[in-house]
Amino acid sequence: MDSRPNIAIDGPAGSGKSTVAKKVAEELGFLYIDTGAMYRAVTLKALRNGVDFDDLAALGEVAASAVVDLIAGPDGSLKVLLDHEDVTEEIRSPNISRSVSLTARVPAVRKRLVELQQAMAKQGGVVMEGRDIGTVVLPNARIKIFLTASSGERSRRRLQELSAKGYEIAQYQMEKEILERDRLDATREIGPLTPAPDAEIIDCTDLSIEQVVGLITDRALAGR
Ligand code: DC
Repeated sequence: MDSRPNIAIDGPAGSGKSTVAKKVAEELGFLYIDTGAMYRAVTLKALRNGVDFDDLAALGEVAASAVVDLIAGPDGSLKVLLDHEDVTEEIRSPNISRSVSLTARVPAVRKRLVELQQAMAKQGGVVMEGRDIGTVVLPNARIKIFLTASSGERSRRRLQELSAKGYEIAQYQMEKEILERDRLDATREIGPLTPAPDAEIIDCTDLSIEQVVGLITDRALAGR
């Protein structure tokens, strides 16, 4: 059995994927890769360049020219660089969240980012989170998890994260935005948000982060 398998974690916005994936990576000494951050970085570049989000070719060009680097810190944190500039905080703004599904539906953008993600996982030992990791990016990942939670719980979690950063949004507004993002992510033609047939689906509405992390690390250690 491979000693450093890849772990794919997919799921909708606010399902707790990032927190869980980061902790699993920390416990196993694996590399954590947040693919949503890459779509966000491309979206930021498109907004800065004043690109029309209906212009698919222009969005593809933005993705082709964007240099997106994910730099892991010694404390498990992840820095996101866009064209060598640190945009870690900026890509979390509500403005980016509202536009990112429009970038993520563009085939040329997905093709480019999927290639980069596959290159990052080539050596094994990564915990990669996103929407299409188990289905498209790493179809051979040994462990595939699809994390879900109720939309009420997901919007509550996202609100908490945002208010810690100083953004104030009403809960109903957050839930509406999350459901709209799910709809766009789940209905696009390429790499839609959907569990791989061989993914384990975990509903974490009533589970603690530690419980979910424990479930996943057990799976990884069992295969060693
Ligand atoms: O996980 P997140 O909220 O940071 O993701 C931001 C957006 O990027 C989300 O709307 C879906 C999209 N995304 C995607 O289409 N494929 C991925 N592998 C990761 C994210």
